[in-house]
Formats: sequence, structure tokens, C-alpha cells
Amino acid sequence: MEVVIVPDEGAAARLVAGAIEDLLGQAAHPVLGLATGSSPLPTYRELARRRGDPTHISVAHARAFLLDEYVGLPFDHPLTYRNVIRRDFALPVGFPDDRLDGPDGSVDALPGSPADYEQRIADAGGIDLQLLGIGTDGHIGFNEPGSSLASRTRLKTLTDVTRRDNARFFGGEIDAVPRHVITQGIGTILDSRHVVMIATGAAKADPVARAVEGPVMAMVPASALQLHPHATVVVDEAAAADLRLADYYREAWAHKPDWQGL
Ligand code: F6R
Repeated sequence: MEVVIVPDEGAAARLVAGAIEDLLGQAAHPVLGLATGSSPLPTYRELARRRGDPTHISVAHARAFLLDEYVGLPFDHPLTYRNVIRRDFALPVGFPDDRLDGPDGSVDALPGSPADYEQRIADAGGIDLQLLGIGTDGHIGFNEPGSSLASRTRLKTLTDVTRRDNARFFGGEIDAVPRHVITQGIGTILDSRHVVMIATGAAKADPVARAVEGPVMAMVPASALQLHPHATVVVDEAAAADLRLADYYREAWAHKPDWQGL
């Protein structure tokens, strides 16, 4: 696992947007895995800003898969993750809507939709670069503490902690936050060829330290990234505050050969 400590969320966004552009420039059929929430937003804004650059690399040949989706929200609800990604990523970045896929969150599509989604990811050749945030309880995707480290895409029940954290998107109303979600499993996430987790702000210092430097265990789902051969954790100074090896991560990054990329 590589930990990159950057000064602020803008620096994190530039770094991760650069890695995405490198992939878009190198792969014939790049496949992105997209997260929602606050953490990847500056990266999406940076990608949108780069659309105006003369060296801009087109996204038209890429495909993207969402990490997770609420269950039971109406199709046209502005807070389905599909619609959030349309608004925050696809429209500003110019990503074609028909190349964007996500779990079907309608109740009627269960119980088959999670397995269908896994199949569609496999049919696309798997995910090249999966973006992740981390929950304050250590979740990735919506794999809450206790999730099997081998889990596949499936229905999950959100913890109260996560529903409270996400109530800010639902006008502060925890009861408005759906109880059920469909999420890529931890095993599904580990199948991605490169996993990039972004964490910024002091509230993430504890879960980041437990994920990166604690034991690998189901109680801290993000700790499973320690098992991934190419996992990058990009944190700002506030989110790095509890890392015991912070000085070593800084030194390793400062002396990393350019050719290695992210
Ligand atoms: C979002 C997701 C979640 C978030 C996590 C952090 O698709 O799956 O795991 O990444 O809850 O959320 P933020 O970034 O809002 O702090």
C-alpha cells in the first residue's frame, strides 16, 4: 500500500486527476470505478477544469461503474448515486451517459440485480482504477464494519453512523436516508487493478490510521486494501494526523522515481 500525504484537497485532486488522465491516455478501453460522497468531488471538478486544456484527453472511449447505490429511491430522485454521478462527474467531465453503469437500486430488480452488476463489470474486462472514500466507521463502498473481506456486490443495511453522516445530503433528516443499499463487495473492490482511496479532513484521521496501520479485519473494511497489490491512499495533512509512519511515507513519496507513476 502506498500512502501519499499532500498539503490539501486541491493537491489530492490534481494528483488523482493526473492518474486518471494517464489511464485514459494509455488504455484502449479504460474502465473507471467511481465513488460518490465529498471525497472525490475536487477530483471530478479538476477533471472538468482540464477539459479546457489543450492537452485534454478525451473520456469518450472510457467506461465507468459506480461503487454503490441506494435502494428504493425513485429513478429520477436527485440523490440516487446514478444521478449524483451524472451531475457531479459525467456532465461536467463530458462522460457519455451510455457508458456509465451502476447497480440497479429499484426494489423490483432484487434479488438478481447485484449478481447482474458483477457480470456487467466482468464483461467490461474489470475495473482499471477504482476511486474510494472512507467512512468515519472505516467502510469502503457501503461495506459496513463486519462485512466479509471476500464479499461480492450485494444488498447491505447501512449503520446509523453512516445514515447520520449522509443525512447532510438529505436536508439533515436521518429518516430520509435509505436504510438499504447495493454495494460492490470488498472482494469486488479488491479485483480492481488499481485502487485509489482519497481521505481529507480531521474526521478521517482515525479511520485512515486504522485502515492503513491497524490489523486487517472485517471491523475495519478499508483495512482490506492492505491485501491489494496496487492500493494508493491519498490523504491531506489533517487526515494523516494519526499515521505513525507519516515521515516514512513522505520520504518515500519525495524519492519515488517519476516512471512509477501513482
Ligand atoms: C460513496 C461511498 C462511501 C463514501 C464514504 C465517504 O460512493 O461508497 O464509501 O466514499 O462514505 O464519504 P465522504 O467522501 O462523503 O466522506
